[in-house]
Amino acid sequence: MKKVLVAYATRMGSTGEIAEAIGEQIRSRGFEVDVQPCHDAHDAWTYDAVIVGSAVYVGHWDKDAVDYLKHQAPDLAERPTWLFQSGPCGEGSEHEQTDVPRAIRKLDFEIGLEPPMTFGGRLDHSKAVGPVSRWMSHGSFAGDFRDWPTIRAWADQIADKLLLNPTSTTVTSPAATLSQPASARKAHA
Ligand SMILES: Cc1cc2nc3c(=O)[nH]c(=O)nc-3n(C[C@H](O)[C@H](O)[C@H](O)COP(=O)(O)O)c2cc1C
Repeated sequence: MKKVLVAYATRMGSTGEIAEAIGEQIRSRGFEVDVQPCHDAHDAWTYDAVIVGSAVYVGHWDKDAVDYLKHQAPDLAERPTWLFQSGPCGEGSEHEQTDVPRAIRKLDFEIGLEPPMTFGGRLDHSKAVGPVSRWMSHGSFAGDFRDWPTIRAWADQIADKLLLNPTSTTVTSPAATLSQPASARKAHA
């Protein structure tokens, strides 16, 4: 059975729930799926395909997700890999795109991936971490803007691609340029 990793970074929990929904959908298509936080995720080489996602905060991905992409880049380049980000909140934001942070655009290019899929986010006062989040979750951005049918449909498309062509990445990958000594990689396994 093909093994898929969904690795995520979250502060207030909502991106973790998106990752779980993606994992559940892909599992329902016959794959073995692990859903793990990036800071504790296994190495990419132990999977046939990998999905990495992060919440966006002040225009940046969480450091754990960026670090995972950096450390695992050579192995991600050698297997089908997809990215997602969650962030946009406020009326009508379910299908809004948010800018892809520069660091992620750079890694995207180096690894040879499609740009991240953007999903709406959630601002919930009871889950807010820190004063800024608490303040924001009282305003017009408060609410849950995650579109579950869209999230599951995206996961389904990934399962379709893996079933059709399990070894191909979607974009030509410059894997050869990503030579990084094994000692420089974080041991996640
Ligand atoms: C302080 C703060 C800054 C944020 N900055 C952005 C941002 O730059 N772009 C964006 O799309 N969403 C932004 N958001 C919205 C979050 O990404 C959204 O609430 C997301 O669902 C949080 O994910 P989490 O629950 O996994 O931490 C911000 C939220 C907070 C509280």
